[in-house]
Amino acid sequence: MRDLPIIALDFDSEDHVLDFLDQFDEPLFVKVGMELYYQTGPALIKKIKERGHDIFLDLKLHDIPNTVQKAMEGLGKLNVDLVNVHAAGGTEMMKHAVKGLRKYNETTKIIAVTQLTSTTEEMLHQEQNIQTSIEEAVLNYAKLAQESGLDGVVCSPLEAKLLTKSLGSDFLKVTPGIRPKGAAVNDQKRITTPEDAKQLGSTHIVVGRPITQSEHPQESYTKIKESWLS
Ligand code: C5P
Repeated sequence: MRDLPIIALDFDSEDHVLDFLDQFDEPLFVKVGMELYYQTGPALIKKIKERGHDIFLDLKLHDIPNTVQKAMEGLGKLNVDLVNVHAAGGTEMMKHAVKGLRKYNETTKIIAVTQLTSTTEEMLHQEQNIQTSIEEAVLNYAKLAQESGLDGVVCSPLEAKLLTKSLGSDFLKVTPGIRPKGAAVNDQKRITTPEDAKQLGSTHIVVGRPITQSEHPQESYTKIKESWLS
């Protein structure tokens, strides 16, 4: 898995994705989410891989353990670099996810979504009935993910420091909510710069619109990459 900013390919068609990728003549690390995968399926994954890019397949599986295990067997055959599940599915589900993934695949990393960044503390208390801070809820899920044999979590960079302290620096902290200085915030609420994310302990950053919606995607990517790697 490359140590590059992960570009969120939030496009609605294969043509848009391939046009976007055509602008780059270097290997990238890209994220394919539900919007794209549910329309294009494994065929697009194969095409992106053929171009030599790393892939985070962000499908956030959450179902009964047996179903997730069988789904992961299928995803394992795609040989992407990173996949994920919802930690809220529980330790049994996460262990079965690892088992399924490993049936045909030894290398793909698997991480858990802790709390979505769209979840507010009020929602946590009122709707999920979890009476702690978001940070504590994230740490709890991250501990369960580690105990279940997962490689890391998706979290906010603002939580990464706490997770590194409790779970070690090797445990992956893949963090969206990244904005370079001066970039549009869009609908992200709690954001950090690539430099700050690294400082806080993110092991990988996910960046979408600051690159995909930029007038000069390649230039915007290069700047973000340099800030991240510096
Ligand atoms: O465009 P932007 O940089 O905000 O994109 C961030 C990407 O990360 C999107 O694909 C979004 O769905 C994803 N994401 C997120 N927050 C999470 C999990 C995933 O923003 N907690």
